[in-house]
Amino acid sequence: MANKTDLVTKYGPWAVVTGASSGIGKAFAEQLAEAGVNLVLVARRQAILDQMAQRMTQSHQIKVRVLTADLAQPLAAERVFNETADLDVGLLVASAGFGTSGEFLTNTLEAELNMLDVNCRALLIQSHQFGQRFAKQGRGGMILLSSILAFQGNGNSAHYSATKGYVHQLAEGLAQELGQKGVDVLACAPGPTMTGFADAAGMEMGSGLTPAVVARETLQKLGRRRTVLPGVLSKLISWGSRTLPRPIRVRLFSQIMGGFAKHDATPEPRAQALG
Ligand SMILES: NC(=O)c1ccc[n+]([C@@H]2O[C@H](COP(=O)([O-])OP(=O)(O)OC[C@H]3O[C@@H](n4cnc5c(N)ncnc54)[C@H](OP(=O)(O)O)[C@@H]3O)[C@@H](O)[C@H]2O)c1
Repeated sequence: MANKTDLVTKYGPWAVVTGASSGIGKAFAEQLAEAGVNLVLVARRQAILDQMAQRMTQSHQIKVRVLTADLAQPLAAERVFNETADLDVGLLVASAGFGTSGEFLTNTLEAELNMLDVNCRALLIQSHQFGQRFAKQGRGGMILLSSILAFQGNGNSAHYSATKGYVHQLAEGLAQELGQKGVDVLACAPGPTMTGFADAAGMEMGSGLTPAVVARETLQKLGRRRTVLPGVLSKLISWGSRTLPRPIRVRLFSQIMGGFAKHDATPEPRAQALG
């Protein structure tokens, strides 16, 4: 488990966590709070973030700032950066994201573009802006949420997998460049994890990793690796399929993703469901 000395000493007193209201981002926030890191919590659902902030402030004696932002909106990612300019931020966990599922042509283009904006565009802006800040201060860490689906194209989640391929390649390249400037970059590539992800994507996954396992192993590997496959399940799926010829891997994963999809229509976007 990462401890206060490791994280605060190495990266500084504040971390920004996007997607902090649920699942993997929430687990990162909880574990960083336990390690004594002050937090900026970013997501759309303010009530959840406010409750988390109140609890963490009391139980871990840390400072917490809540920033509600819809990262699909063009200026939202820049606003998050600007509204943390007064804080000594050294760590970015970019966990905000969602998936579409089922056949590509049955989802609306609007849903796919929305996903591209959150999973890729906002993450690109944040990597660039925080990357510059961290490189200038000569210390920092970035955890970017990839997926085991990032390693080949997959039918029944074709565009989601493509967004994760983008994140993964960006993270690997940045790890190479920014490592020389004192900034650790890590691509976190989990397998199925029990979060709000499946519901938001209109999928049924059955079982999977816990978000706590994903966050714990990822924080342990930050600064030591460029990619982490957190938990036994991610390693089994990824290593088990690595020796298969790529076309067979594509077919296999496409079938698995087809089995997960509950529908062949676009799920209700969470923002709309929230009203
Ligand atoms: N669960 C899995 O099996 C799995 C596997 C591999 C990778 N991942 C990746 O892990 C990351 C976290 O997903 P999760 O599994 O933790 O799912 P989750 O429980 O649904 O959490 C997704 C988070 O992203 C936020 N978010 C979604 N759309 C947003 C928007 N437009 N603006 C701002 N925040 C937004 C949500 O907050 P609000 O709804 O409050 O905005 C929520 O906090 C994603 O990048 C996902 O692709 C998940």
